[in-house]
Amino acid sequence: MYALRAQNVRKIYESKKKKTEALKGVDLDVKEGEIFGILGPNGAGKTTFVKICSTLLGKTEGVIEILGMDIDKEEREIRKRIGYIGQDSERSTYARLTGRENLEYFSALYNVDKEKFLERLEKFKRTYENDEIFEKQVMKLSGGQKQAIVVMRGFLHDPDLVFADEISKGLDPIASKKIRNFVKDYAKQKGKTVIITSQIMSEIEELCDRVAIIDEGKFVAIDTPQDLVEDLDIEILEVRLRPGEIVTEDFVEELKSLKSVLNISNENGNYRLTISESTSSFQNVLDISKKHNLNPILSYRTGTLEDVFLKYCAKKIELSG
Ligand SMILES: Nc1ncnc2c1ncn2[C@@H]1O[C@H](COP(=O)(O)OP(=O)(O)O)[C@@H](O)[C@H]1O
Ligand SMILES: [Mg+2]
Repeated sequence: MYALRAQNVRKIYESKKKKTEALKGVDLDVKEGEIFGILGPNGAGKTTFVKICSTLLGKTEGVIEILGMDIDKEEREIRKRIGYIGQDSERSTYARLTGRENLEYFSALYNVDKEKFLERLEKFKRTYENDEIFEKQVMKLSGGQKQAIVVMRGFLHDPDLVFADEISKGLDPIASKKIRNFVKDYAKQKGKTVIITSQIMSEIEELCDRVAIIDEGKFVAIDTPQDLVEDLDIEILEVRLRPGEIVTEDFVEELKSLKSVLNISNENGNYRLTISESTSSFQNVLDISKKHNLNPILSYRTGTLEDVFLKYCAKKIELSG
């Protein structure tokens, strides 16, 4: 059984001034029990896709089945069985109510009985290991604590399919780890499906059975994180400058002009070249460095999911510094 089947989904946002084609005919199958990741740069279409599949936004074209139901015909039933955790967490809770009151209120809306609610609240408390956030008014919580309440809200009614749009946004590493563990347990112990969007590679790598990379309104790759990395037929050459060495624009331009270099990124002054033919590039980079009076340390390493992301979405990454 599929939790989600999408065929040729298009979305055009139209205003008086312009048309934006946010989704350009996407297909996707997600199996029941999968934790499925959608990874893509800003503006790629992640939120649009998730909102359409959660019945919060209309599509321009295409067919979508959620838990075996046609989204155009069984919207009400679908809503009962899905959870949605939006990107805009400010508007998902009542600021003057406590975390607990918020969750109780939304439970009532979902017709969750009191006993079940208390059971779930206990589970959330165990997950979060911090009872305080449930007893304070939401307006007195930090951004990350608020987000934790919003995340829990999405799971209150024991949904069969949960959409989580950038679930870890604003969470500190410890809190996001707890939320990740909760999501994993929820899917794996109960056989539920979770579809999460993210820009955080490690989150996707840790959580997801499969991942789709989306760029400019199209899914450009869909596979397990492991296979995406294995199929990456490129190597990474890291160029580490020695202390005191300063890079000029000409140096970077010359590196960019090398045929084998697919992408250059810069982290704290160290350059990372994504290259297609390793042996010749190594020598080329050495030659160019010498010409610019640089003597950097060069090292090869194999790819990661981040490199997969850069390969597919590279034009979006600005060369900075
Ligand atoms: N309400 C809207 N009206 C017009 N354009 C929109 C609207 N929402 C999103 N877009 C555009 O659609 C594209 C996809 O946006 P979005 O789905 O939010 O991407 P992501 O979540 O991957 O950052 C972007 O070009 C964005 O500017
Ligand atoms: Mg988004």
